[in-house]
Amino acid sequence: MSHDDFPTEHPAVVTCGLPYANGDLHIGHLRTYVGGDVYARALERLGQETAFVSGSDMHGTPVAVNAEKEGVSPEAFALDWHERYAETFPKFNVEFDNYGHTHDETNTEITQGLVRDLDEAGHLYEKEIMVAYDPVDDQFLPDRYVEGTCPYCGAHARGDECDEGCQRHLEPGEVEDPVSTITGNPAEYRERTHQFFEVSAFADYLSEFLDRLEGTSNARNQPREWIEQGLQDWCITRDMDWGIDMPGENPQDLVLYVWVDAPIEYISSTRQYTERVGADVFDWEAVWKEGVSDAHPEGGEIVHVIGRDIIQHHTIFWPAMLEATGHAEPRAVMASGFVTLGGKGFSTSRDRAVWADEYLEEGFHPDPLRYYLATNGGFQQDVDFSWEKFRDRVNTELVGTVGNFLYRSLLFAHRNYEDAPVADATSDEVAGRIDEAIADVEAAVNDYSVRALGDAATDLARFGNEYIQHNEPWKLVDDDPDEAAQVIHDCVAIAKAIAVLFEPIAPEKCERLWDQLGEGGSVHEVTVAAASEEPEGDLSEPTELFEKVEDDRVEELNAKLASRVAAAEAGDADDAGGEAADGDADETGDEATDDDTETTDMTDIDPISDDRISFEQFQELDVRVGRIEDAEEIEGADDLLKLRVDLGVETRTIVAGLKGLHAVEDLPGTKVVVLANMEKADLFGVESNGMVLAAGEQADLLTTHEDAEPGTKVL
Ligand code: 2FM
Ligand code: ZN
Repeated sequence: MSHDDFPTEHPAVVTCGLPYANGDLHIGHLRTYVGGDVYARALERLGQETAFVSGSDMHGTPVAVNAEKEGVSPEAFALDWHERYAETFPKFNVEFDNYGHTHDETNTEITQGLVRDLDEAGHLYEKEIMVAYDPVDDQFLPDRYVEGTCPYCGAHARGDECDEGCQRHLEPGEVEDPVSTITGNPAEYRERTHQFFEVSAFADYLSEFLDRLEGTSNARNQPREWIEQGLQDWCITRDMDWGIDMPGENPQDLVLYVWVDAPIEYISSTRQYTERVGADVFDWEAVWKEGVSDAHPEGGEIVHVIGRDIIQHHTIFWPAMLEATGHAEPRAVMASGFVTLGGKGFSTSRDRAVWADEYLEEGFHPDPLRYYLATNGGFQQDVDFSWEKFRDRVNTELVGTVGNFLYRSLLFAHRNYEDAPVADATSDEVAGRIDEAIADVEAAVNDYSVRALGDAATDLARFGNEYIQHNEPWKLVDDDPDEAAQVIHDCVAIAKAIAVLFEPIAPEKCERLWDQLGEGGSVHEVTVAAASEEPEGDLSEPTELFEKVEDDRVEELNAKLASRVAAAEAGDADDAGGEAADGDADETGDEATDDDTETTDMTDIDPISDDRISFEQFQELDVRVGRIEDAEEIEGADDLLKLRVDLGVETRTIVAGLKGLHAVEDLPGTKVVVLANMEKADLFGVESNGMVLAAGEQADLLTTHEDAEPGTKVL
């Protein structure tokens, strides 16, 4: 692991958080996988030796609970979902070099070996703890078999995570007022002996590791707080049949906690890739192990791409396990925000979701969704999907900017010159602009900014449109044919650069563009250097690369979604009463990116105030649209950022509690809603002149969705 800029001479592994093999994937899940795929492709385009791996998470209660509901064995259930995922990801052009699963021999062997190493190094110990138990059903209730109240924030929580509140990992015995999710029976706590990993002994190492860690800022800031609050040791065994057996003496027949063998699959999957292609092509040990490769003594460049709900596992437990067993440490963790649907969470039980298969069955191409998910906000920000917004982004940016530039340029070139337009070389102006776009891509990779990767290519297309519009080759073609040829040659050069630089975001469309340009080989094999090489191919008749989304399609899709939700809710109503014990158990299958706000226990939300105010009182609030111009940290302030916000008539300094929740570099350009006549306040020596409005603990920024300019009054 080095901290040189990418590309480095060390091999890289990009991993994506393993999906639990327990149910259909929706587009919320795809955000992480698309982000990982975009990032891995971009590294490859920079010439970085890269393996992109993941696999299905087969064990644990998320799988066992759902299998039990279906009345099948967890193994058959999980394998079935695993096979479906392995088929689904490539349909979205998410092309893993290896997609394994946690239940296979490789992962079992590596997991048990690593746990033995932890034990031999003296990092494991046994402890008596209280675990939840259903006395009526006579079974232990690990993790998702039990629900209750989070002892830290009071939210309704699963046995091993506060998924609706503070997002903390919860240890067995911590959840208060435990209830079985299977029977609804109140649980009691019983004593058992379990194995613990002494994570607390790694607190100093982890603090230093976090100082080195790259990626999104949320992945560094949240764990720092957890370390400051004091790390607890980690129970790594469970009272279950389904999982990898705890190695060694195991009188209670315990299995390893799912979060032990899940991240180890990153290593196993890389090894399987090496076993397939040979260590001379990609050497898994050189990446994952310290001190085995002379050329890479500290290991390779490990980049984990995950959802923001599993930061703790990837920045505390996992690096401690790696450090304790002589493995290389991650270089970066990129933690994505969630995806909401029309402003609300996805709800599997209410069928309020856009399913991955459904998106494709509706006839949409995967690349526009990739573009939307990758660029509709900074990677760590939550992103809202609606068919209207999808239509707008596709029609304006993909069709109107990128597609329009490519089609008009290539059609003109093909009609007037048939083959490559005649010009000696790309003009200095255009070559310079292409170099700038390449530099933008390099910077985006080194900033771990998936959005900036998309913007680099769309900005270049925007420049291309301005360039062709300004130079009007259609007028020059008769009066000054040489100049016309130069302009159109420049446009073909821009088109070629777009094919290379946009490939990570829209791989299939860019391959088609590469063919239209008559370039040889595959755009998936070239590096960014090809973006500035002269176009030499024979152009073929271009076709439009992106398709418009029509308004009536949007109406139709919204109607379908609404009727599905209504049907599911009617089903819920029919079921109510007779199946109270089931509660929300069917929600337990929701995966990392499920932000199932609809099923949140509403008692968590403050009641709406009974104190009414008059319209006149409301008018006293001067609420305006603003645009953040720049953002910076404030020395000594843990939570605050200093913003410069354009309010149309003036630019204000506003201090806002956004640190750690939004990447500083993602904020400029974001439209916000500002209470402009808030009284001034002095915060850490900075005068704050206004208040930026945001929702909830994650400070989800209020914004506008159309063209309201800075200064516009919010009424
Ligand atoms: O939260 C989840 O969906 C887990 N299945 C993620 C596992 S990622 C890993 F492997 F560490
Ligand atoms: Zn909590």
